[in-house]
Amino acid sequence: MKSIAQFPPNPGLVSSPSPLLTPLSVHRRQQLSLGLIGPGRVGAALLQQLRKNQLRLAERFGVELKLYGVITSKKMWACETDGMQYWHSGNEGHPADLETFENHMRGKGAHVMLIDCTASDVIADYYEGWMRSGIHIVTPNKLAGSGSLDRWQRIQLAGNSAQFRQEAAVCAGLPVVQTLRDLIDTGDELLSIEGIFSGTLAWLCHHYDGSCSFSALLRDAHALAYTEPDPREDLSGMDVARKLVILAREAGLSISLTDVQVQNLVPACLGEVSTETFFSNMEALDVMMGQRLAEARAQGGVLRHVGRIDAEGHGRVGLCVLPLEHALARTSATDNVIQFDTRRYRENPMKIQGPGAGPEVTAAGIFADLLRIASTLRVE
Ligand SMILES: NC(=O)c1ccc[n+]([C@@H]2O[C@H](COP(=O)([O-])OP(=O)(O)OC[C@H]3O[C@@H](n4cnc5c(N)ncnc54)[C@H](OP(=O)(O)O)[C@@H]3O)[C@@H](O)[C@H]2O)c1
Repeated sequence: MKSIAQFPPNPGLVSSPSPLLTPLSVHRRQQLSLGLIGPGRVGAALLQQLRKNQLRLAERFGVELKLYGVITSKKMWACETDGMQYWHSGNEGHPADLETFENHMRGKGAHVMLIDCTASDVIADYYEGWMRSGIHIVTPNKLAGSGSLDRWQRIQLAGNSAQFRQEAAVCAGLPVVQTLRDLIDTGDELLSIEGIFSGTLAWLCHHYDGSCSFSALLRDAHALAYTEPDPREDLSGMDVARKLVILAREAGLSISLTDVQVQNLVPACLGEVSTETFFSNMEALDVMMGQRLAEARAQGGVLRHVGRIDAEGHGRVGLCVLPLEHALARTSATDNVIQFDTRRYRENPMKIQGPGAGPEVTAAGIFADLLRIASTLRVE
């Protein structure tokens, strides 16, 4: 096995272990060994939250979270004792090697978890193997949950050996996946899921009132960092389609992205051009968007970007005209709103609303998944 860089002490961070474990938590001590893949915006926010709560979780609940490794696409770091309070991205590190990293993590106790905070399909390919060897996976990465159905089904089967959770992949910290699981597990019957899954498109639709062109508004949204660096990623609707597929699969439906009909708001002439060319020709969006706004007005409604999937797994993503009294019409600027229509919640569908992106809230969704898994683990 190759040697791996150790975490040098980080003088700015707390380093003493807790002297204050309560008798109960000492008795019920549970160790979860963590490896983080991708300490980017979300991964770094998660590490901060873990650091801040590590002591409290150990003292109050006997849950000992220990960080044994961090890896990016280029570098990796590892340690033989907990490095949670020591690791920082300025540390030297060694060239990344996923196999060495995995072997290092494998020897780190009875309960090992890898947290994938990348958007990498290559990493998602490893989940099944890791799970078969007993390693739990938590991730905000959408690619396993919405990628090839065959891979997803193999991950599901590997669930006999280890757990997989992906709450943060759908609406960051909003408890959408867990709520759906609870509805189904308690015998409710899903009729449809409908919602505003893109904060960017929610903001654009909310502010698009005809007082300025859609392209001008899109420039503003980009300047405010509400869009992806290339706004076509938001406008394509594919991110929303992926979220629908994840939810449908969590509800037990065997569907793929091809089962979702997606309206791409990017005009064909701007689909393949460079980002710079797209920015200098964004006015090509204005005619179609102007027509849709006029239609909405003529019908006395508002324009919203909506994703919907029914109980048979037929999905649709695109612009809709909604009546003013519709729950999805009355949203605040960048919120996600997800509505579950089920047999029990038929008269008044259940709604979950709030910010659906941002490193802090996404990290909190990952943290909650981590704790859900920790709460099911056998005490050592
Ligand atoms: N940001 C949000 O608000 C939000 C909300 C919901 C879900 N998510 C999801 O959360 C994930 C992370 O988002 P982010 O905003 O934190 O992205 P980010 O800032 O770009 O960070 C991605 C991290 O992944 C690492 N990485 C990429 N490929 C890798 C590979 N093959 N092996 C190991 N590490 C690799 C990158 O390191 P190097 O570049 O150094 O390789 C970087 O540390 C994504 O799946 C995203 O869709 C994000």
